[in-house]
Amino acid sequence: MAKIKTTFFCQNCGADSPKWVGKCPSCGQWNTFVEEVVQKSSTKEQWLMPDLSAKPNAPKLISEIEIGEQIRIDTHNQELNRVLGGGLVPGSIVLLGGEPGIGKSTLLLQIALQMKNLKVLYVSGEESEHQIRMRADRLNIKLSDTYILTETNTQKIAQSIKQLQPSVIIVDSIQTMHTEYVESSAGSISQIRECAGEFHKYAKQSNTPVMLIGHITKDGSLAGPKVLEHMVDTVLQFEGDRNYGYRILRSVKNRFGSTSELGIYEMQNTGLRQVSNPAEILLSHRDQMLSGIAIGSTMEGLRPMLIEIQALVSSAAYGTPQRSTTGFDGRRLNMLLAVLEKRAGFRLSAKDVFVNVAGGIKVDDPAIDLAVVCAILSSNQDVEINDKTCFAAEVGLSGEIRSVNRIEQRIAEAEKLGFERIVISKFNQKALPKSLKIEIIAVNRIEEVLKHVFS
Ligand code: TYD
Ligand code: MG
Repeated sequence: MAKIKTTFFCQNCGADSPKWVGKCPSCGQWNTFVEEVVQKSSTKEQWLMPDLSAKPNAPKLISEIEIGEQIRIDTHNQELNRVLGGGLVPGSIVLLGGEPGIGKSTLLLQIALQMKNLKVLYVSGEESEHQIRMRADRLNIKLSDTYILTETNTQKIAQSIKQLQPSVIIVDSIQTMHTEYVESSAGSISQIRECAGEFHKYAKQSNTPVMLIGHITKDGSLAGPKVLEHMVDTVLQFEGDRNYGYRILRSVKNRFGSTSELGIYEMQNTGLRQVSNPAEILLSHRDQMLSGIAIGSTMEGLRPMLIEIQALVSSAAYGTPQRSTTGFDGRRLNMLLAVLEKRAGFRLSAKDVFVNVAGGIKVDDPAIDLAVVCAILSSNQDVEINDKTCFAAEVGLSGEIRSVNRIEQRIAEAEKLGFERIVISKFNQKALPKSLKIEIIAVNRIEEVLKHVFS
């Protein structure tokens, strides 16, 4: 009988140790080691495929390696295609992570149904066939060549795959899968590592793309994180604020494309709708001008987006004034308030200041500094900013207006959305083309902005 072997695994990074240790020597986290049973049978079969070790790969000259045509599989979902770098690469393994309830299963089921001419196998360890069918009906897509398998044992899944020979495999989720070769319970590090390894091997040997859904832990990283991230080709993150309808699909790692792309979806009653024009959700439609609102330009990956910054400045009711932000860094707000106080002479230290990025998105692009400052001043003075004006500049500690990257794209986006003027830094002005319809207001210091915007 095989001897039962147990090992301790760090639940954060997957490092193993024969003994329990308090602090992980690999990632430095405390109290993350958990004992798991790893019983490896000595005659471990090769999963699905014949033994490859019989014919070892010989070294080849790089110039002699044929790439063939880089065919990408069209997912019929423009946003996903773009995030993947032009479609699914055959034989690649994609991990989709996100918080529970954000819409991972919905997204991948929708994609499975949309890939009309391909045989897609959707393996679910989380929902029953009925639930999946009900969801598919809700999505309102004509049912196609999609097969559903509700199974969590990877050896049984392997048999189904062998029979069906699907062109794309979707696994929902990797944390529910378990393999017979490892004793510990599903969701443990050693199970995740082994199961992902089996799918990985199959993807590479059969040239079939596999998409894995992965859960996210409380602190926002993928459960069983490093182990999985190393193993897969592409890591996608699905995120969004649950109180708002829309979701952002971001690529965190991509061996076949850029990681700065992003896709935007809106969760509706009939599934996820692709949002090709982000302005429709990020800019509110107002019929009158209001004080405390300024439009700033931010880059999400390579995509310029104009977002609405709202600010409210009011006299502090209690001793210590409150500063509160949603979607913007609170410390950066404090810095901007200090700059306004010291360099522009506004007495805000006795005021409550609230800043909100509309639409529930989080922005860390310094290019929205100027919009934040103008929204605060607009609320403070109760003077509204013209709704055809937008801002793209960083504010420095001495009140100087600093340049930002990709200014041409930001300006082009503002022009496209019908803005009539954009306030930028003087240093950004030099590189601009002459023939622009939009009026460019180039400023050097915060005082100049006030002259242009509030007079
Ligand atoms: P789901 O895909 O199950 O999330 P995950 O797999 O990431 O846990 O999404 C579930 C949420 O999406 C649920 O709260 C209901 C909502 N939803 C819609 O709003 N519209 C729809 O058409 C569908 C299918 C789900
Ligand atoms: Mg799900």
